[in-house]
Amino acid sequence: MTVARTWAVALAGLEGALVEVEADLTNQIPDFRIIGLPDKALAEAVQRVHNACANSDLPLPRRRLTVNLSPASLPKQGSGFDVAVAIACLATEIPMDAASVAATVHLGELGLDGRLRPIPGVLPSVLASARAGIGRVVVPYANLEEARLVQGVEVLGAVSLGDVARWHGADIAVREREPVTQPATTTLRAPDRELAEVIGQRDAVDALVVAAAGGHHILMSGPPGAGKTMLAERLPGILPPLDDEAALASASIRSLAGERIADLERTPPFEAPHHSASVAALVGGGSRLIRPGAIARASDGVLFLDEAGEFASSALDALRQPLESGAITISRAGATASFPARFQLVVATNPCPCGNYGVPGGACVCPPIAIRRYLGRLSGPLIDRIDIELSMRRVSVAHAGAAEPGTTTAEAKVRVGEARERAARRLRATPWRLNAQVSGAWLRQGPLAPPPVVRRPLDAALHRGSLTLRGYDRVLRVAWSLADLSRHDRLDAQHIGRALFLKRGITA
Ligand SMILES: Nc1ncnc2c1ncn2[C@@H]1O[C@H](COP(=O)(O)OP(=O)(O)OP(=O)(O)O)[C@@H](O)[C@H]1O
Ligand SMILES: [Mg+2]
Ligand SMILES: [Zn+2]
Repeated sequence: MTVARTWAVALAGLEGALVEVEADLTNQIPDFRIIGLPDKALAEAVQRVHNACANSDLPLPRRRLTVNLSPASLPKQGSGFDVAVAIACLATEIPMDAASVAATVHLGELGLDGRLRPIPGVLPSVLASARAGIGRVVVPYANLEEARLVQGVEVLGAVSLGDVARWHGADIAVREREPVTQPATTTLRAPDRELAEVIGQRDAVDALVVAAAGGHHILMSGPPGAGKTMLAERLPGILPPLDDEAALASASIRSLAGERIADLERTPPFEAPHHSASVAALVGGGSRLIRPGAIARASDGVLFLDEAGEFASSALDALRQPLESGAITISRAGATASFPARFQLVVATNPCPCGNYGVPGGACVCPPIAIRRYLGRLSGPLIDRIDIELSMRRVSVAHAGAAEPGTTTAEAKVRVGEARERAARRLRATPWRLNAQVSGAWLRQGPLAPPPVVRRPLDAALHRGSLTLRGYDRVLRVAWSLADLSRHDRLDAQHIGRALFLKRGITA
């Protein structure tokens, strides 16, 4: 055979597109080239494929080999095409089952010694293969667990190029080799922390449950040691578990970020970038494959900005687009990738640089201008999106001893789940599912808009000027979450009053 075909996958963000890899052998002076818009890494594939074949006792034919990757217009990044290129080339000369080669997607990078090296993005690539109706995928052995998370596809985990050739019927000797492994990554998964460990702080725990029920962004302000970080870490545990689609998308994003994926995590992700994190770490980037940053990894989960006042303004600005659109687009020379970025934002801050401003018994040493500047850093895109502003105090030791047992994670999760079901039922004829998503117009003029007598305190605050129209809508959103949690089908004055209380707090 002089022409052989097989498949690989090109990724742009989470979207995978099948790429046909076609090798053509002609009787001309020996040469080996790849065409079809390859990037720099693909050009390097020529060298890797050449050496990997030679070191697998599968030398490439000593004639002219041309490999075409199509569609040519598709940007193809990364080193994941090596195996497909090598197999297509070998199949032009070595007897192999052409139908088998043509019906298989090959993913993986080749080491010079002929072993398959793990690559990022195996999960979205296998998903793309399944959707395209190709039922068999060869992956590097180290990515086998990850690839098996996709239902309805036969997955083969190959240690070496020789393994792959043999599967396709090549008559070559078995060589036992150690698989290349992928080092475990230290993942920032939500720690399984128990909500009942929080002593006292009734209001704060209740506010967290409200935030979880409606998907509201929340700001916590308080002195050091008040338990802000402790509380934020307990939010993923009370959110509903991810469904199949969300769990696969979340794992796909982590796969593209280079993490080792062994199972489908159902607890929503928790990302807590440090305030010194670069814009690139938040947004993503990279020189070969575009890798998602913390913002995308937090999608369908929680993005926690601890000590938010310390973040660079460029970092906070990077949140603007994802907060607006629920997605993040990363553009680099020649390539654009878009990732989902529907996260729930939790912002924690001290009330002032020294942390003692407004704390009973605390002696704040900050000049007023410093306090204003400190909180001013957070204003603009961030504060504008916050539905719940919570002022926290330290719990005293005396209180700690006397406190009755608090809400457990399991209890809170049930309440949140029921409230979300109620909201989804109410909103079923609308494009929204969570209270935080509902438009102001629908809240104020929709079929369930509260009557004047119920909204009276809100209207009064608006007229006094202590609430903007935007703030007005935020109070209504939170009020609906309170109604859902208390199993009411209508807003009443109590929900509104409580929501107003949750919206107060610090205002920069
Ligand atoms: N309500 C509480 N119940 C139990 N432990 C608490 C509580 N508040 C604080 N702690 C204890 O204090 C420690 C510090 O709390 P945490 O780190 O959450 O405070 P913080 O508000 O984030 O402070 P900082 O502003 O310094 O970041 C916690 O690890 C926890 O052990
Ligand atoms: Mg903290
Ligand atoms: Zn201070």
